[in-house]
Amino acid sequence: MLDKDGFDKWSATYDKSVSSSDEEGRYPFAGYTTVLAEMRKLIAEPRGAEVLDIGVGTGKFSAGLYAEGANICGVDFSAAMLEEARAAMPGGEFHHFDFASGLPAELRGRKFDYIVSSYAFHHLDDAGKASFLRALAGNLKPGGLIIIADVAFSTSVELTACRARSGEKWDDSEIYMVAETLLPLLKDSGLKPEYRQISDCAGILTLH
Ligand SMILES: C[S@@+](CC[C@H](N)C(=O)[O-])C[C@H]1O[C@@H](n2cnc3c(N)ncnc32)[C@H](O)[C@@H]1O
Repeated sequence: MLDKDGFDKWSATYDKSVSSSDEEGRYPFAGYTTVLAEMRKLIAEPRGAEVLDIGVGTGKFSAGLYAEGANICGVDFSAAMLEEARAAMPGGEFHHFDFASGLPAELRGRKFDYIVSSYAFHHLDDAGKASFLRALAGNLKPGGLIIIADVAFSTSVELTACRARSGEKWDDSEIYMVAETLLPLLKDSGLKPEYRQISDCAGILTLH
């Protein structure tokens, strides 16, 4: 799993490398373009929407919404990734922060129409994912939606099969969502979680 220095180094070539991994149908980014397109379909009206993007990276997902008139607020612990995001979304608001500690203090009371995160949640373990999601529920406007996309699986059997297929490429330090394990941790959270598999190694969790 990369730390912030690793992401700083990757920032200049990130967009190209995820596209080629996707085109070759390789873990970890097989289906990446489709995943982002499916996330976009979940956003009914971008114009004027308040969107929080956690692990915004270069802005691969949010830049499209920004172009359609959404107000983007991005959080990331890589200064170099944030530089790319700022260049793509000059009117956006960005916070240099490690989401392992939740949200930065200035965002704690803020409410958003959409809270999105793509390919970043695997930096948290299952308990961390569940407690962060529970906290994020407090940052949703009424009728708002949380959309979490990542390398993810419906079942641990599917994760194990992907690990076997991926051989040396598999990164054992990353903690991927497994819906059958994570969803029970969100019981009684007041959130309604729904998981959908998009490619053989990626899926989208929505919560409202
Ligand atoms: C694989 S990239 C995904 C970027 C973008 N969301 C996308 O879909 O292309 C993961 C991003 O999450 C950020 N990130 C990872 N762990 C983080 C953490 N604990 N706090 C803040 N940002 C983090 C990285 O710096 C990087 O920009």
